[in-house]
Amino acid sequence: MQPLVVLDKIVFGYGRENDQPIFHGLSMALRQGEFRAVLGPNGTGKSTLAKLICGIIQPTQGEVRVAGVPLEGPAASSRLSYRVGLVFQNPDHQIIATSVAEEVAFGPCNLQLPAGEVRKRVREALERFNLEGLAEHPPQMLSGGEKRRLTLAATWAMQPDIWVLDEPLAMLDPPAQDVTLELIREIHREGKTVIYFGHRVDEVLVADLVSVLFNGGIVWEGEPRELILAAKEEWGLTLPEPGRIWQQITGGNSNFPVASVEELVAALWGST
Ligand SMILES: Nc1ncnc2c1ncn2[C@@H]1O[C@H](COP(=O)(O)OP(=O)(O)OP(=O)(O)O)[C@@H](O)[C@H]1O
Ligand SMILES: [Mg+2]
Repeated sequence: MQPLVVLDKIVFGYGRENDQPIFHGLSMALRQGEFRAVLGPNGTGKSTLAKLICGIIQPTQGEVRVAGVPLEGPAASSRLSYRVGLVFQNPDHQIIATSVAEEVAFGPCNLQLPAGEVRKRVREALERFNLEGLAEHPPQMLSGGEKRRLTLAATWAMQPDIWVLDEPLAMLDPPAQDVTLELIREIHREGKTVIYFGHRVDEVLVADLVSVLFNGGIVWEGEPRELILAAKEEWGLTLPEPGRIWQQITGGNSNFPVASVEELVAALWGST
């Protein structure tokens, strides 16, 4: 089966003098319905890659293809049948309207949907992302968790097939992280393709596949649990705490990936 999203030998730099390109021949392919995590440390280019996948910026060399169609060029408009939605790392860079309901309506209005359909989507989005009581509130007054739910709701209202999420749990406290991750999982369960950028392995244990972004390219690909054992210090990833404790106890000699407290307890019982 043809992959849904292909990054083909991407070269990209912001064009500052004497700068090395951020990506030098980066390639990656995702299948439809996949939950893909892309992990990398600060400044490796996660947000840049997210924008390239959405066509907000274009590569210097190489090509991004969605369903076989390059994002640039005469056939580019056919990618609209596979809309790509980007949830920005910083909600304040995404939110533009003066009320929560208007923010959610903005995308469907831009898609020139009939007024009745816009109203329906806004109602459903507010309900789904638990924002009904905040519909008339100014977005700037929302909490971090509410702002994140608003950007997800505004994206959902456009019904994209491909969701590009740039560090969606950043700046949230643990309960808000749990709620947000569950909302994302629900979107994925409904068949959407999810590309999740981050640096914490414990956030992406549910991913089908993880790609590690480092030094301008993808340096590792595999299942999230494999990464707990395979991660290199220099990749700057945050591993699950129980996994780190287990690695300390075993001096890094265990082939058993520990992702949770329960697994740590089981590993300790097994080792005695
Ligand atoms: N608009 C821009 N103009 C010039 N340089 C930029 C621009 N945006 C990002 N950069 C640079 O590109 C590199 C990659 O930045 P990017 O924001 O994509 O990294 P990131 O992996 O998302 O980082 P973080 O984990 O901090 O969010 C950095 O060195 C950054 O300074
Ligand atoms: Mg970023």
